[in-house]
Amino acid sequence: MPISRISLTLLSFLLITTLSACYAPEPESATEVNANYNVELDIAQLMSLVLEPASDTLWESGGWVLDAYGYEELYPTTDDGWGFVRAQAAIVVETGNMLALPGRAEDEDAWMIYSEGLSEAGIMAMEAAEAQDKEAFFQAGGQLYSVCTACHQSYSPDVASRFDNSAD
Ligand code: HEC
Repeated sequence: MPISRISLTLLSFLLITTLSACYAPEPESATEVNANYNVELDIAQLMSLVLEPASDTLWESGGWVLDAYGYEELYPTTDDGWGFVRAQAAIVVETGNMLALPGRAEDEDAWMIYSEGLSEAGIMAMEAAEAQDKEAFFQAGGQLYSVCTACHQSYSPDVASRFDNSAD
């Protein structure tokens, strides 16, 4: 075998080894580090103190209401108004992560899917607020509501029925 062929083979071997080292997944231990998350707030507190106020703001900032003057738009009318609503949507996004923390998550299955769904609905609302797109913002609100309802039906039938009653 000519020498150049050998060194080429060696070179490509080295290249492949280096590349695969770059693309190797993180060692298991890196994800298993037991970080000290502060999960002193329980689920009920996280709901009533963090998630509900932010979501209420989103729902109260979309759609129309019928009042003495006719149909009144609820959407923000200024850049600052949209900016505020976008910030509330960011709280919703991050609450999805807070719910998924070890010590809070109730399981590794549906709970995680609902938590992720919460963050996704929040991202939709953030993007709509950034674009000041009323239609997309309204849809994000609807998607958000269906995630709340789905999780409550699975994990807190009590809360699910309270939500239904309050809609009366
Ligand atoms: C991943 C699951 C999950 C999602 C998503 C979720 N919740 Fe909850 N929520 C719960 C559970 C579980 C409880 C019951 C907590 C308890 O009583 O210990 C609860 C309770 C509540 C309560 C009652 C809190 C109290 O003081 O007793 C409110 C209000 C609430 N949720 C609002 C919402 C809203 C609004 C959304 C959507 C924007 C939402 N939740 C999304 C799981 C979820």
